[in-house]
Amino acid sequence: MSKEKLVIFDTTLRDGEQSPGASMTKDEKVRIAKMLEKMRIDVIEAGFAIASPGDFKSVKAVADVIKDSTVCSLARAVDADIDRAAEALKGANQSRIHTFIATSPIHMKHKLNMSPDEVLAQAVHAVKRARNYTNDVEFSLEDGSRSDFDFMCRITEAAINAGATTINVPDTVGYGEPIEYGNMFRQLIEAVPNADKAIFSTHCHNDLGLAVANSLAAVMNGVRQIECTINGLGERAGNASLEEVVMAIRTRKDIFPVETNIDTTNILPTSRLVSSVTGFPVQPNKAIVGANSFAHESGIHQDGILKHRETYEIMRAEDVGWNTNKIVLGKHSGRAAVKARFEALGISFESQDAINLAFSRFKELADKKHEVFDEDLHALVSSASSGRKQETFLLVDMDIVCKTGHKPHAKLTLQVRGEDVVAESDGSGPVDASYKAIEQVVQSGTDLQLYSVNAITQGTDSQGEVTVRLERDGQIVNGIGSDTDIVAASVRAYLSALNMLEAPHTGVHPQRSGV
Ligand code: KIV
Ligand code: ZN
Repeated sequence: MSKEKLVIFDTTLRDGEQSPGASMTKDEKVRIAKMLEKMRIDVIEAGFAIASPGDFKSVKAVADVIKDSTVCSLARAVDADIDRAAEALKGANQSRIHTFIATSPIHMKHKLNMSPDEVLAQAVHAVKRARNYTNDVEFSLEDGSRSDFDFMCRITEAAINAGATTINVPDTVGYGEPIEYGNMFRQLIEAVPNADKAIFSTHCHNDLGLAVANSLAAVMNGVRQIECTINGLGERAGNASLEEVVMAIRTRKDIFPVETNIDTTNILPTSRLVSSVTGFPVQPNKAIVGANSFAHESGIHQDGILKHRETYEIMRAEDVGWNTNKIVLGKHSGRAAVKARFEALGISFESQDAINLAFSRFKELADKKHEVFDEDLHALVSSASSGRKQETFLLVDMDIVCKTGHKPHAKLTLQVRGEDVVAESDGSGPVDASYKAIEQVVQSGTDLQLYSVNAITQGTDSQGEVTVRLERDGQIVNGIGSDTDIVAASVRAYLSALNMLEAPHTGVHPQRSGV
C-alpha cells in the first residue's frame, strides 16, 4: 500500500509553553528547536510573536537558526498579529503564519461578541493578509469541534479560497470523542468543494485523555497533519503527545495509510530536554518515554522477552532513543571535547566567558560523578540558566547538619541583590530547614505547589534534578536545580523559582484575549 505523508507540526514551544509554569527562555527554545529539527519535525510552531517582546525574540531566534523545518508563528486574525508574526519570521528558510479565530457559537457570542458573518469576513481578511507574506498559511477554526457544521464548511471553503494551505479544526477544549471527531473530518472534507487545495489538520487537547486517540481517528478520516507536543505538554491537560502519535503511526503501519518523516531515535533525548527545561517530570509509566515504558517486571514477561522479544514488546526501545545513552565525558575530558559535545546537543555559547563557565561547571560535576551523560549536560545548562540573566537570589554557601536524634539544621549564605546574608533554621528534614532559612530572608509570600526530585541518570552518583513550583498572586513558576547533592539541588531550584518571580512574564494569552 503506498503511503501518504503525514505532516508533524510540533507546538511544544507555543501551546506547550501555555502549560502553567512551563515558560522557557529564548535560548532554551532555540535548544529545543534544534533538537526538533534533528528529529526531522516538519513544522515547528516557535511561539506567538505578538504576545510579548520576549516571544517575538524567541520566534525570530528560532526562525534565524532553523534551516530544515518550517518555522511558524501563531497570530490571531488581526492585522497587527499577522504583521508581527511575519516580521519575526523574516529570517526563516521556510515560514508559516498560523492565524486563527473562534468559530463555535459559544465563543463567537461570549468571547468575540461577533456574528458568524463577521467572523468569516475577518478570517478571509486575515488569511489574505498572511498570504502577502508567505505562501504557507494555516487557518484554525478555534473550538472547531464544537462549531456548527454548516458554518464550519462555509468558513473552511472561504479560507481556502482566500489562500489558506492548511485548515486546522482543533478540539480546543478536549471535548471530542474519536468516532465523532473522525466523522466530522470525513464529512467536512467531502462537503467542502475546494478541500483538495488544502491539508486538513488536527490539534487536540487532552482534557478527557483522548487527544492521541482523536488525532489518530482524524488521520483515518483524511487528515494529513497532526499538531502535537513533546511529552504531551500544553494548555490545561496538554496536547496530543508527539511521541505517542508518531510511534502509533509507525508501529501500526498495517492500518494507518500514512507515514511520517520523523527520526524516532531522537524522541527520548528531546523528551528529556523538554522535561529538564520546563521542570515537568515525565511520569514513569508514560508511554514511549517513561522510565518503565520498556521495563518488564513480571517473571512471565521477562521469561517471554528472553525467549523471543516480540512476545511482550511491540516496539524496540532503541528505535525511540533508549539504550543510545553513551557515556560521553569524564573528568579527564578536555575543553575542546566538552565544547564539541555541548554543541552536538544544540547548546552554543555567546562568549568565551560563557564557555569557561560551562567548562568549570562541567569539571565540578565530573569531580563528583564518574560518568557525565548527555542528560547531565542538559541539566547543567538548564539549571544554570533557569534563574535567568539577572539573578536576585544566589546561593553562596550552605552548611547542613543532619544527626540522628537532632533536628536537621541549615545555615545558608545567600547573596540577595548583591549583598551576602546569612540565614539559619531547623526543619523536619534538611530540605525543609533550608527552605525555611531562605524564607526568613526573602519572605516571598509564595505557596509551594510542587516539590519533586528525579534522578537524571542511573546509579547513586546520579545528579538529582529538583523541580519546585511556586505560586504567588495567580502567577506560577517552575524552578529547576540539579546537583549530585539533592539538598543543594533543592536550594538551587527554590532560588531559581524565586528569581523567575522577580522577572514576571507579561505576555498576551492567545485564547484569552479577544480579537
Ligand atoms: O487549542 C487551540 O484551539 C489552539 C489554537 C490557537 C490552534 O491552540
Ligand atoms: Zn491548543
